Amino acid sequence: MHLGRVTHRREHRHGRAGRNNRGPHERKPRYEQYCVVCHGPRGLGDGPTAKATTPPATRLPAPDVRNKTDQDLLAIIADGKGAIMPAWRGLLSDQELQNVLAYIRFLGG
Ligand code: HEC
Repeated sequence: MHLGRVTHRREHRHGRAGRNNRGPHERKPRYEQYCVVCHGPRGLGDGPTAKATTPPATRLPAPDVRNKTDQDLLAIIADGKGAIMPAWRGLLSDQELQNVLAYIRFLGG
């Protein structure tokens, strides 16, 4: 797959950069494309539209989010939540859903 090939090239160039070091940067693009506008660059709920929506975009590093399982979060991202949080299934592939989830986990520290 396309993303896979990009990953491989970088792996070769950086030699010993481990999987974990590289991960977040590989996973960022979709988040920046689709999620930043509401959730903000650091997931703090401070994107351009965040304050304009009711409810406001969730702070993704919050304990309430961290404590949810991968499965719960994937379901929310795929199917949406409430009136504002869109459903992303179909627009994002399963792999991309996994990637944005991983990126949210990274933001959450
Ligand atoms: C149009 C604004 C908007 C966009 C774009 C958006 N979100 Fe959200 N998101 C929200 C709002 C608002 C909520 C709170 C929903 C609620 O509780 O009713 C939310 C909630 C969430 C939650 C749930 C947190 C929890 O604990 O319940 C996750 C996870 C999430 N968003 C991830 C994402 C991801 C990943 C993307 C990009 C693929 C994204 N969001 C794009 C507005 C947005």
